Amino acid sequence: MTDRDTQKRQAAERALTYVEDGKIVGVGTGSTVKFFIEGLGRMRDRIAGAVSSSEQSTALLQQHGIEVFDLNAVGPLTLYVDGADECDPQRRLIKGGGAALTREKIIAAASARFVCVVDPAKCVDVLGAFALPVEVIPMARSHVARALAAFGGQPVWRDGVVTDNGNWILDVHGLRITDPVGLEREINQIVGVVSVGLFAARPADVVIAGDRVLG
Ligand code: A5P
Repeated sequence: MTDRDTQKRQAAERALTYVEDGKIVGVGTGSTVKFFIEGLGRMRDRIAGAVSSSEQSTALLQQHGIEVFDLNAVGPLTLYVDGADECDPQRRLIKGGGAALTREKIIAAASARFVCVVDPAKCVDVLGAFALPVEVIPMARSHVARALAAFGGQPVWRDGVVTDNGNWILDVHGLRITDPVGLEREINQIVGVVSVGLFAARPADVVIAGDRVLG
């Protein structure tokens, strides 16, 4: 296991302490969440199940004997645990490296507390070194790419990737995001955008970076 994997596991193990008995847990996607799901598997008899942000996490949760529910059937959640691609000191995030950003954003919005688990290399002062993922309706790809270019970045189509919702991803390179809340709002207004992987209007409540807790 690499040092980064060890730090991811450390963060994921710490996030288990936020899980309450008898509740349904919102579960994100990615290599850090994989460690969280392993831990949840060990305590599966104490929780009521999970709501999953991707087909990938659903399969893992089921392999660990955890029942997966439709968010519509269970209503608001008390806890959502997910990874991130970048995190700033205000706990605002870039997510979507695994193309699951839209479902992740929905579950984050429907949860009282969002605990984000990362390895410390993801912590930055200003977001944007990681290319910003934007999920788009396929027929709007070129239109959205032109609109995104106006913000100063270079949108690149993640060719060959289809999201769990049947859409495509544009990754915007070269941004220095000094106003994450404003940029999230503006990108959300482009017709054809499904969601943007900027989690700024609703940042994480807690970030666990390896063995360090922020927030
Ligand atoms: C999925 O689309 C992303 O938002 C993930 O949450 C993010 O990429 C997590 O990265 P790790 O694989 O490093 O945990």
